[in-house]
Amino acid sequence: MKQDLIIAIDGHSSTGKSSMSKLLAKQLGYTHIDSGAMYRTVTLFAFQNDLIENNQVLVDQLVPRLDEILIEFRYNADNNCNETYLNGVNVEEEIRGLQVSSMVSPIAVIPEVRDYCVALQQKMGVNKRIVMDGRDIGTTVFPNADIKIFITASAEIRAKRRFLEYEREGKTIPFDEVLANVIERDHIDSTREYSPLRKADDAILLDNSNLNLEETVAAALKIIQEHN
Ligand code: CDP
Ligand code: CDP
Repeated sequence: MKQDLIIAIDGHSSTGKSSMSKLLAKQLGYTHIDSGAMYRTVTLFAFQNDLIENNQVLVDQLVPRLDEILIEFRYNADNNCNETYLNGVNVEEEIRGLQVSSMVSPIAVIPEVRDYCVALQQKMGVNKRIVMDGRDIGTTVFPNADIKIFITASAEIRAKRRFLEYEREGKTIPFDEVLANVIERDHIDSTREYSPLRKADDAILLDNSNLNLEETVAAALKIIQEHN
């Protein structure tokens, strides 16, 4: 790699962004940052502190408490991954469940939550050599990122991937429920007013409906090599 780069990976839910970014970062010797984990951690904090009632976020109560939320990523050498910590506690598994997934998009529309997470993401990128995945990395967090890739795939294929992932973890969740969550999050993420999910004009579009993870990583590496 000729220079130190910021690589922005955006796209729809369950396209394989974080799995792919992790493998890309490993191959490049870069750090992977999963920006979605930050919005998930804020959501977990809201659940833990009764700031969600009847599927409604108590925005007025959550916003003044954002400074109580310390989010960190710590490297775990056993699985070669960064794991997410909330106020010193490992929450990596808890933030991936369907409860957090069901409320994360309504939390991520709150402008103060976005400002809070974006500031943290920008801080993590000061030394470059990162692969960051999310929804608005190439548009808002790092509009001058060296390489921007926008990944998509059909909703059914994405839901099937997520369904199989839950199954591998021993969780039986009806496919229709997983599909509904994927579609609903796409809708909320793309239509929110503040920093919506959209492809940056200078991002390369990668549809991986018919690509497995290894093929997706290979396609991304080709894009990086061609643009560097
Ligand atoms: O992995 P998955 O695609 O299911 O989602 P994620 O990347 O963990 O992100 C969870 C949610 O956080 C998304 O559905 C978005 O609502 C929000 N998010 C966001 O708004 N902006 C980002 N940069 C990353 C995530
Ligand atoms: O971060 P994002 O929500 O975009 O996706 P992910 O959490 O990296 O991947 C969701 C699931 O899809 C994981 O179980 C991946 O292994 C799987 N996947 C796949 O089966 N085929 C791909 N081409 C990409 C991901």
